[in-house]
Amino acid sequence: MARVETTANRPYHLVIFGASGFTGQFVVEEVARTAAEGPKGTLKWAVAGRSKQKLEKVLEQAAGFLSKPELRTEVDIIVADVEEPDTLASMCKQAVIVLNCVGPYRFFGESVVKACVENGAHHIDISGEPQFLEGMQLNYNSQAADKGVYIVGSCGFDSIPADMGILYTRDQFKGTLTAVESFLTVKTGPDGGSIHDGTWHSAIYGLADRPKLRSLRSKFNHKPLPTVGSKLKRRGVLFYSNEIQQYTVPFIGSDPAVVKRSQRYLAEEHQETPVQYGAYAGIGGIGNVVKMIFAGMMFFLLVKFSCGRSLLLKYSEFFSFGAFTKTGPTRKQMADTSFQIAFYGEGYKEGDDPSQGKPNSKIQTLVKGPECGYVTTPIAMVQAALTILNEPAALPKKGGVYTPGGAFAKTTLISRLHKHGIQFSVV
Ligand SMILES: NC(=O)c1ccc[n+]([C@@H]2O[C@H](COP(=O)([O-])OP(=O)(O)OC[C@H]3O[C@@H](n4cnc5c(N)ncnc54)[C@H](OP(=O)(O)O)[C@@H]3O)[C@@H](O)[C@H]2O)c1
Repeated sequence: MARVETTANRPYHLVIFGASGFTGQFVVEEVARTAAEGPKGTLKWAVAGRSKQKLEKVLEQAAGFLSKPELRTEVDIIVADVEEPDTLASMCKQAVIVLNCVGPYRFFGESVVKACVENGAHHIDISGEPQFLEGMQLNYNSQAADKGVYIVGSCGFDSIPADMGILYTRDQFKGTLTAVESFLTVKTGPDGGSIHDGTWHSAIYGLADRPKLRSLRSKFNHKPLPTVGSKLKRRGVLFYSNEIQQYTVPFIGSDPAVVKRSQRYLAEEHQETPVQYGAYAGIGGIGNVVKMIFAGMMFFLLVKFSCGRSLLLKYSEFFSFGAFTKTGPTRKQMADTSFQIAFYGEGYKEGDDPSQGKPNSKIQTLVKGPECGYVTTPIAMVQAALTILNEPAALPKKGGVYTPGGAFAKTTLISRLHKHGIQFSVV
């Protein structure tokens, strides 16, 4: 069972590492808001990062926004730098769980995971980078299991709504669910919205490094997952979706890779029927299609060369048509933005053999929530941490490197998310 108690030597339930980052500041606010949900109604927590001044500023700002002046004086600060392993070790020794917001994870993530495993702290990240996530599984799964430590990746918008949404759909389906397609739509208010370019950086390096992901995957020596039911057809690179009534493209984030790993784990460890998955995202009308084709062509061309990547990094706003900005969205833009993922599932009615004939039953579910990157992500990350702290007996028996679906399938994470505004429902 997970170690969740604090001690004199390990004084904090949670340490937020990278609290001074754009996302980190909102994770700080979410932890401050939900502190009463910690074990026995209290949560002991601290912030960490490489600049004490920046961390003080984040606490000052959170104290003002949340009208909690005590945050200025009662939250401890730990100075730790990814480049200085001793400081990481010292941080990890003081935490039950490290909430790691320092990205791109491909550059900064591994040393934090290593320090957590070596020093007995659980680790939750919000990476959307399959190469990092799967690399950690390859390199640290058995050490984490030996130490009884849970390393749970992709606990932000990438990929908790999709991964837990598939499990929710499966649990609501009367029979054997065999395939799901999901369609993401995002609504912004009159001022529009944007994503902070920390995520743009992660995406650029992620796409540039794609060939390495294939060779990393081959090292797992996985047997192919059995296809149960009719094989799910892949849609085209651009199509008009009748489901969401707009032009749609394959979702390029980590969701399909994360869902596949969860389904593999649940099939191999719990003999559950693996669900095939296709993830798509709506892009709107024809005007957006033209912009997307232009931006996509520039991106895939420039990302291959180091001078092209420098241009993409420097002029994120220009090359993304304003989707990514150096300042990130304003609080007003965030308040006016929301997302919805519609899941269309098919399978076999109760009592029917899924190896015989075509699927004969359907289901539609929804996951809805507030702005993806800096409202949903902190809620999902913090609720994942609170689930480890409050429900250790419902986690997998052994420590290891897990997806959200693998770690939280038997917990109440979905109802916790629901209570915090990320709602799961059957249509
Ligand atoms: N899953 C999701 O849906 C989701 C949503 C949002 C963000 N993200 C991911 O979260 C990550 C952060 O994004 P962001 O926009 O918040 O980026 P950001 O604003 O650039 O923040 C990066 C953080 O890393 C810290 N850092 C950098 N180098 C460090 C080092 N050597 N030692 C210690 N700390 C270091 C920075 O500290 P300083 O302040 O001192 O520079 C800062 O706190 C990205 O990988 C992004 O893709 C994921």
